[in-house]
Amino acid sequence: MIICGEFFYKGRFIDCAVEIKDGVIVDISKTKKGRRVRGIIMPAGIDVHVHFRDFKESYKETIETGSLSALYGGICLVVDQPNTNPPVIDEKVYFERMKRAEKTTYVDYSLNLGLVNDNADKIVEIVKKIEKKYFLPAIGEVFLKGDMRVSYETLEKVRRSTSKLITVHAEDPNEEDDVVAEVKAVERCLKMGVFHFCHISTARALDLIHESNSTSEVTPHHLIFSKHNTDFKVNPPLKSSEERVKLVKNFKKADVLASDHAPHTLEEKKEGKPGFPGVEVMYPIFFYLMKRGYVSINETIKKIAMNPAKIFGFSRYGEIEVGKYANFVVFDPKDEKFIKGEELHSKVGWTIYEGLKAVFPKEVYIRGEKVLEDGDVLVEKGFGEVL
Ligand code: NCD
Ligand code: ZN
Ligand code: ZN
Ligand code: ZN
Repeated sequence: MIICGEFFYKGRFIDCAVEIKDGVIVDISKTKKGRRVRGIIMPAGIDVHVHFRDFKESYKETIETGSLSALYGGICLVVDQPNTNPPVIDEKVYFERMKRAEKTTYVDYSLNLGLVNDNADKIVEIVKKIEKKYFLPAIGEVFLKGDMRVSYETLEKVRRSTSKLITVHAEDPNEEDDVVAEVKAVERCLKMGVFHFCHISTARALDLIHESNSTSEVTPHHLIFSKHNTDFKVNPPLKSSEERVKLVKNFKKADVLASDHAPHTLEEKKEGKPGFPGVEVMYPIFFYLMKRGYVSINETIKKIAMNPAKIFGFSRYGEIEVGKYANFVVFDPKDEKFIKGEELHSKVGWTIYEGLKAVFPKEVYIRGEKVLEDGDVLVEKGFGEVL
C-alpha cells in the first residue's frame, strides 16, 4: 500500500509517497504513485502517562473507554500507570491487566509496574517474570507520598539494583510548599541516579533535570492553567501564574509531553480527588497551538512522539521513517473546534479544557490501517496491540 500526501518528515513538511508493508514503512519517495490523503500527515502521538483505571474503578474509566479516547485524540500508543485498584505491583495483576487490555484496547497498550515499599525486595524478580512475556516500559510512576508511598531509601536501593527505567512522581512528602516540594524531590532523586520525572510543574525542576542525564515530562494542564483558573485539584498542584509563565518559557527543555490522563467523576472532584482527563485533547490542543505559532512544531512533535519512543524504548514508534510503524494522524488545519467535555470519549464526560480551541484528527492510521475517519472508528475494541 502506498499513501501520498503532505507528510511531516525529518522535521519538515514534504509531499511524498510512503510505502507500507505489514504495517511498517518500507519506503519514502517522491516519485511513487498511490492513494492521496488530504490534510497534513503527522506522526501519531504517544502518551506515556495515562490512568485507565478499570478493575474496581471501571465506573470512571476502563481500558476500553480510555483507549477509545486516546484514538480520537491521535494517540497510537499509551503507557498505563499501575495505581489501579487492585494495584499492579506483582506479575499476577500485571498479566491480568494485559489480558484485559488485549481484549479491549483500541490503541497499542503498554503498562508500567508499580513500586511500593512492600514489593521493593522482589522488584527485580517481578521485572524478570514480566519481561518473559511482555515489553515492560518502566517501573513507576513511583509515589513519594500517599497510599503507594515509597521512601527515598527504598527508591535509592531499587535504583541501584536495576538498570530499568524508573519514572517518579516527584513531590517531597514533608515539604508544605508545592514548588519547593517538587524541586527538593528532584534534587534528592538526581543524587541517586537517572530517572524519568513525571508531570514536572516548575521551571526550576526542569532546569535541574535538563542539566542531568535524567528526562522530564510536562503536561498540558500545568502549561495552560494556573491555580487561579480552576478549583479542581491535581497532583502536582497547578502553580501561580508567574510560575506557569516560567514553565512555558522553559518548554524547550522538557523531553516529553504527556497528559497524566487521570479521570474522576464530578462527584469525586467535588470531594477533592486529584486529576484531570486529558488523553483525547492533548495532541488536538497542541496542534492548534502549533498552527497558531504559539509553540514550535519541531519541539512539540519531539515531545509528543519522538522522545517518548526513544526514552521508553518503543523502537518502532515515534517517527514517520523507514522501519517504523505506519502510525499517522491526519489533520485538516482549518478544522478548529471548541472542546466540549460531553463530546469526548472518556467515561467521566467533563474536561477542564472546556471551551478551548483545538484541531482534532480527521484520520488516524495505526500500523498502516485506517482506524478513524471523520469521527467514525473503523476497528473493533481489541484492535490495539499489547506490547
Ligand atoms: C493521578 C490519579 O488520579 O491517578 N492523579 C493526579 O492528580 N495526577 C495520580 C498521579 O499521577 O499522581
Ligand atoms: Zn503523579
Ligand atoms: Zn534535557
Ligand atoms: Zn499519574
